[in-house]
Amino acid sequence: MKFAKIRGLGMVMERRPPIFIYRLFLWDEAITMKHLAGWTDTLPLSGTMEISRMAGELMEKGRNILSLSIGEPDFPTPSHIVEAAVESLRKGETHYTPAPGIPELRAAVADTVRENNNIDVSPEEVFIVPAKQAIFSALHVLVDSGEVLYLEPAWVSYGPQIMLSGGRPRPVAMKSSSSGFMLDEEAVKEAVGRDTRAIIINTPSNPTGCVLSERELKFLADVAVDNDLYVVADEIYERLVYEGRHVSIASLPDMKDRTITVSGFSKSYAMTGWRIGWAAGPKKIIDDMIRLQQHTLTCLPMFIQKGGLAALTGPQEPVEEMKRSFKRRRDMLLSLLDEIPGMEVARPRG
Ligand SMILES: Cc1ncc(COP(=O)(O)O)c(C=O)c1O
Repeated sequence: MKFAKIRGLGMVMERRPPIFIYRLFLWDEAITMKHLAGWTDTLPLSGTMEISRMAGELMEKGRNILSLSIGEPDFPTPSHIVEAAVESLRKGETHYTPAPGIPELRAAVADTVRENNNIDVSPEEVFIVPAKQAIFSALHVLVDSGEVLYLEPAWVSYGPQIMLSGGRPRPVAMKSSSSGFMLDEEAVKEAVGRDTRAIIINTPSNPTGCVLSERELKFLADVAVDNDLYVVADEIYERLVYEGRHVSIASLPDMKDRTITVSGFSKSYAMTGWRIGWAAGPKKIIDDMIRLQQHTLTCLPMFIQKGGLAALTGPQEPVEEMKRSFKRRRDMLLSLLDEIPGMEVARPRG
């Protein structure tokens, strides 16, 4: 929102892309209000949220829309998870919880990360927090100033979150071919400089579907070690790999101490609206992220965490079932796109 004053009249301009709204009002109103911080106005809006909103509006009008905007499983949350949350609410578990997360969920996440990701973490090195907030907090702890690299095409929030943490976004383009997107090692080497603080690695990637191979991750790990970089490993899609194998960069030699691994429930368990996930990493970094939580979000609701606990400790078949369905849809789309003359598709593996 921007203000302008012309003698007895004030004018406010509101940006609601793609339109701008101008309103005139009396000077009196303008002088009673302090100006806004301003910098928040420079943050780009989330493109995926905006397209999703537009798709929703069209659906409400009865149009038959397939929204490919936001990473949202179209399955309901499995019923045993819902039941666990409802039971918790019925028991009256509606009060504050510990900022780092309830002990039993921290322990269950630590077990999961040790088993699925081959990263040897203790419950004290785990923090229960929505994945998006985890990336935000990690960047705030790790990036004082300087550049943060990430691979492009990239998820919409990396650039703005890096800016919010005081850093400068430095996207590094990936290479692509019909077999999929892949790391451009030369471009990474060229982008790293004395001013580079950290690198965000998103595998499987939104939006490319690229699953980085162990060789590519080893290359990135060497770059991180050689240049003393922190790594934020965004692995939110780790359970949705159709070809190849998910490897966590923190499981590679010398990487655990410099990597914060972020994941969660949203995509694997169709729990996007529950707002729960986790970060796992070195205790000092996790503790500083928890400090941020104490003064912002405070904690996650108990019933949400009980749902998360049921997700990790209960049957995993719903995850596999959803994955099979997503893979079938991917295969169908790939074969339909293949029929379009002149269309080349970079094959998503996740
Ligand atoms: C690549 C990527 N990272 C992180 C997130 C955030 O996940 P959550 O909604 O669980 O906070 C998303 C959500 O769309 C995402 O696509």
